[in-house]
Amino acid sequence: MKIIILAAGKSKRFKSSKHKALHDLLGLTILERILNNLWALEPHQIQLVLGHQMKEMIGHLKKQETFVEQDEQLGTAHALQVGLSNISSIENGLLVTCVDTPMISSETFKQLIQRANSQKAQIGILTTRLAQPTGYGRIIKDQHDESQVLKIIEEKDSTDEQKQINEVNTGVYFFNLPLQKLQEGLSSIKNNNNQKEYYLTDLVEWANSEGLRVVAHCVNDSAETLGINDRVDLAQAAQIMSAKRIKELQINGVSFINPSTTTVAPEVEIGEDTVIMPGCNLIGKVSIASNSVIGPNCYLQNSEIGSNCHLKFVHMVDSKIGNHCTLGPFVNIRPGTQLANNVAVGDFVEIKNSSVGAHSKLPHLSYVGDSSIGENVNIGAGTITANFDAISHSKNVTQIGDDVKVGSNCVLIAPLQIADGCMIAAGTIVTKSVEHKNSLIIARTPQSVKEDWVTEKLSSL
Ligand code: UD1
Ligand code: CA
Repeated sequence: MKIIILAAGKSKRFKSSKHKALHDLLGLTILERILNNLWALEPHQIQLVLGHQMKEMIGHLKKQETFVEQDEQLGTAHALQVGLSNISSIENGLLVTCVDTPMISSETFKQLIQRANSQKAQIGILTTRLAQPTGYGRIIKDQHDESQVLKIIEEKDSTDEQKQINEVNTGVYFFNLPLQKLQEGLSSIKNNNNQKEYYLTDLVEWANSEGLRVVAHCVNDSAETLGINDRVDLAQAAQIMSAKRIKELQINGVSFINPSTTTVAPEVEIGEDTVIMPGCNLIGKVSIASNSVIGPNCYLQNSEIGSNCHLKFVHMVDSKIGNHCTLGPFVNIRPGTQLANNVAVGDFVEIKNSSVGAHSKLPHLSYVGDSSIGENVNIGAGTITANFDAISHSKNVTQIGDDVKVGSNCVLIAPLQIADGCMIAAGTIVTKSVEHKNSLIIARTPQSVKEDWVTEKLSSL
């Protein structure tokens, strides 16, 4: 089977300087989502018809997708003609879809193909029923044989009576006929309609005149086929996807305290008895094991969280934490961070591209970047790893061994290595590595006390 995605249109209604398919939808672009769903069908080829913002689109193609350019957007029939221009055969069928329906599942595409095959149809059309079908092409069926589609009439060309029909074209088609025959049909299409476009939908009337079988597969849940034409649709799609995933997770034993304030991407996996508090955003590939409490107010993106963790007000991207960890409130975990089991990270701590060993604690007000921290380490309040060399513009690494205790307000100037068991006195600026285990590291002016200095000073004025 081969697939053609029609994606050359301008998407005027989106009002954006970038192609609408490149906008984010819960951690993946619309394009990535539709490609994932289509590659799951294991097609021989996926070809995109590109036009507007073509360069940018090519830059975002992932696997072995191919593309052709439609210079002028003369309509969907013309787009398909261009899409077929470098294809020599569609022997095992051709699936055609628009680029803006990222919620149509692989399962639904399969059902359309099965319906067309089982009914020996040359054309299968994916349809749905809408309470408010305004804007969509309407499906007109044979009154004597309800399984045969006679025509698709575009909103702009339809009569008042036809506007009452609520079964609509979703813009997805499966063709099972020789390539030459399909091309013959496409070249017979005229643009004598209200929009002066070559409509792919006119192929249905042609097929009927040729005595071909055209069937519809109607999707029950019309939310799945929502086409994203503007920002309202984009937000609605995110809401639909999130609500669907939340419901599946609830059924699998996950509690959501206030689902209406929570956003969950379809990729998110959560274990039993985990509780998601209000105000959480779980975006992209997030996995959370069982018995954890997430939130309130966490933003987690492409990250992995173990069991029995508690995260409050945490912002975390591309990172991984073990079991029994507590984080927050107000913690920033930046990409490339790994926390082992039983790690505690307290308020106003930022960790970037670093690893922290088991049972270590960073309770307050620290910055740890490009560092590895051993097991059972305590990082005192206000401690900073100074990883950036402003002269060479390079980042340097700090390595802290096991059982190290760092006092409050220390600055560790990287590159630096501190041996196991060392203690660093509060307020120390560490500039040199210490290899000797269990050393005290102290670098500060010894304290002097001048007794009665204040009273003497004041009386001398
Ligand atoms: C189309 C269908 C309509 C259906 C609706 C579902 C036609 C004539 N109408 O209408 O029956 O209900 O989809 O969403 O097909 N494109 C190109 N080149 C072109 C024109 C369009 O690549 O010259 C692409 C667009 O980028 C888009 C897709 O084809 O991805 C659909 O085009 P659009 O103009 O949005 O069609 P609709 O008016 O929505
Ligand atoms: Ca559309």
